[in-house]
Amino acid sequence: MKYILLLFVPIFFSCQSKEEITQQQYSVEGMALYKANCENCHQADGGGLRDLYPSIQKTHLSPEALACLVKKGKKGNGFMPANPKLQALDIAELVTYMREKWGGKKQIYSVDSVRLALQNCP
Ligand code: HEC
Repeated sequence: MKYILLLFVPIFFSCQSKEEITQQQYSVEGMALYKANCENCHQADGGGLRDLYPSIQKTHLSPEALACLVKKGKKGNGFMPANPKLQALDIAELVTYMREKWGGKKQIYSVDSVRLALQNCP
């Protein structure tokens, strides 16, 4: 319910551009996706959990690399599960949210960008 309200507030009460509104919608959806799929390990503030799960607050990953990581997971010193059920739109919303929260960048990472990134994963 909270999320639904957040979506409508900017539409009714401001003169923001369509671009800004879409960015906020992506970000709000992305936050919900982060809670559902990432927060258990990386925590709400992105600070991670001891030595088990790394902090993602200052990750140097590009949005492209992030899209691939989320979709395919990673096995390094630790193990991050893949997310095969997340679609391009979900990943676009997630990346948009993360960039805003930890990158200070209010900019949509588009669905097309995600599709392209996923075709070129290492
Ligand atoms: C089961 C726990 C777990 C979940 C759930 C999880 N991760 Fe991870 N994540 C990890 C581990 C462990 C690593 C380190 C992998 C390695 O390199 O060994 C990692 C690495 C990362 C990194 C790289 C950090 C860096 O700078 O190298 C990012 C970014 C990241 N995760 C984001 C996410 C996002 C976004 C989600 C949700 C879609 C997510 N993770 C879900 C455990 C998890």
